[in-house]
Amino acid sequence: MIRSKILGLGSYVPDRIVTNEEIAYLDARHIRHDEKQTDTTPEWIRTRTGVEERRYVPNDESTTCSDLAQRAAVRALEDAQCSAKDVDCIILATLSPDIHFPGTAVFLQSRLGIDGDEGCPCFDIRQQCSGFLYGLQMADSFVKSGQYKRVLLVGAELHSHSLDYSTRGRDVMVLFGDGAGAVVVGPSESNGPRDGILYTKLGADGSGAQDLHLKVFDSQKMPHIQYDPAWGTPDVAYPQMNGKKVFLNAVRAMNLGTRAALQATGLTWDDVDWFVPHQANLRINEAVAKFAEIPEEKVLNSIQFYGNTTAATVPLTIDHHRKAGRVKKGDLIVSAVFGAGFTWGASVFQV
Ligand code: UT7
Repeated sequence: MIRSKILGLGSYVPDRIVTNEEIAYLDARHIRHDEKQTDTTPEWIRTRTGVEERRYVPNDESTTCSDLAQRAAVRALEDAQCSAKDVDCIILATLSPDIHFPGTAVFLQSRLGIDGDEGCPCFDIRQQCSGFLYGLQMADSFVKSGQYKRVLLVGAELHSHSLDYSTRGRDVMVLFGDGAGAVVVGPSESNGPRDGILYTKLGADGSGAQDLHLKVFDSQKMPHIQYDPAWGTPDVAYPQMNGKKVFLNAVRAMNLGTRAALQATGLTWDDVDWFVPHQANLRINEAVAKFAEIPEEKVLNSIQFYGNTTAATVPLTIDHHRKAGRVKKGDLIVSAVFGAGFTWGASVFQV
């Protein structure tokens, strides 16, 4: 059977850096006030989550999720040395789509200039923080089966428009940032023991669906929905999370997924270059590394700089460390993710 591989990778984050010092003073339009809008401290955010800063899109309602997706996609296509016209399938993972429907992948297709009568199929997938690995399994299967030859997989998130910037929403608001990451997946010419995408395994448990959810959105608007006091509590308008339950389940699923990935592939940490976990909380990743007995120096994080960018965290983290010269072409990566749904996954692949 043909094996698939990652032909190219790219990421994009907006320029605006919002530090832990600044975030408490922002309102829903990202305007800085003299008075604190949220009762939080830089120290709490850093020690409880690992986040030190995150990126926000400009606060002029000019940016959508597909905008971020396009910028990351263009970089991944350049890295893969192919053009948008070579793409015969798009998979876009997001929890912050441009609008409710149609899906954001078709907006991305138009932005890339490859829409029209011969336009390639476009999939939106909604697996939140697990979206990238869910998409990677789809892309891998499509390429292996010969269905498609160049699959563009993008994880993109515009979180900053749909967060509750009052004390009520502080547990969630401080965690998230805007950004996108993309890969191009295609056939591999070689099938050695380290070559290409070696393993993908996914799972889900719908009984956790209410533990991290958002009911409504219009992600281009600021705020993304006009709250009507007649609704009673504003829970409907903002993400709601049972943080402790999500935390514990994330550690468990990512530990088990990582162990299963090594067992299934017969690899050890000596064979693997990097562990790239989803970036939800530095403490989650430290706990996973401890329980899964992962050498500390092989764990790559980027939550300090970008917060949680949900479906974008894995490619964004890899690209961050590639730009810093740590990750090299051909490195072997084990990745594990967990998110709303609950959904989770683990994968072994070469970059
Ligand atoms: O991306 C996939 C899914 N997401 C995750 O995996 C996130 C998982 N959960 C977490 O990362 C953590 O549960 C949180 C970071 C969300 C919260 O950390 P925690 O250590 O579980 O804190 P907690 O919810 O137990 O809250 C401890 C205290 C509370 O105050 P009291 O009740 O002890 O007075 C909270 O109200 O911290 C308070 N708190 C804050 N204080 C300052 C919660 N958020 C904040 C905040 N600033 N931003």
